[in-house]
Amino acid sequence: MKIIIINGPNLNLLGKRETNIYGDLSFKEFFEELKMKNKDIELEYFQSNIEGELINKIQEVGFSYDGIILNAAAYTHTSIGIADAVAGITTPTIEVHISNTYSRESFRHVSYLAPNVKGIITGFGLQSYELALLSFMK
Ligand code: DQA
Repeated sequence: MKIIIINGPNLNLLGKRETNIYGDLSFKEFFEELKMKNKDIELEYFQSNIEGELINKIQEVGFSYDGIILNAAAYTHTSIGIADAVAGITTPTIEVHISNTYSRESFRHVSYLAPNVKGIITGFGLQSYELALLSFMK
């Protein structure tokens, strides 16, 4: 099984950025641990701060991989381009958020991706990614 985690803008700063909200673990550390715990899954990771690069990656993997775990970060709330990319692929995509976006500012309550994802996991810290991964295991 081939699964990719795609992280959007500012998530490269995890561990340093607003640690009261996002925690103090870097994504690299978390990802290495996740891979160790799931050796039977081909797990990849991609991060970009650039909208078009995220769209390119979604298109590249979106017809051959078994799953996409997508934290589009701020683009979740703004990007019709990423929403269209998710709508246009065949690989099931799960939207994840580290924080509970519904307990934060109202602009974070809107997700352009929501209508076209398989499901949404929000508010469980980095465990949100792990829960999404679990959902791909039948
Ligand atoms: C986030 C929530 C978004 O509103 C925010 O812009 C992020 C991270 C999360 O994982 O909690 O950058 O997607």
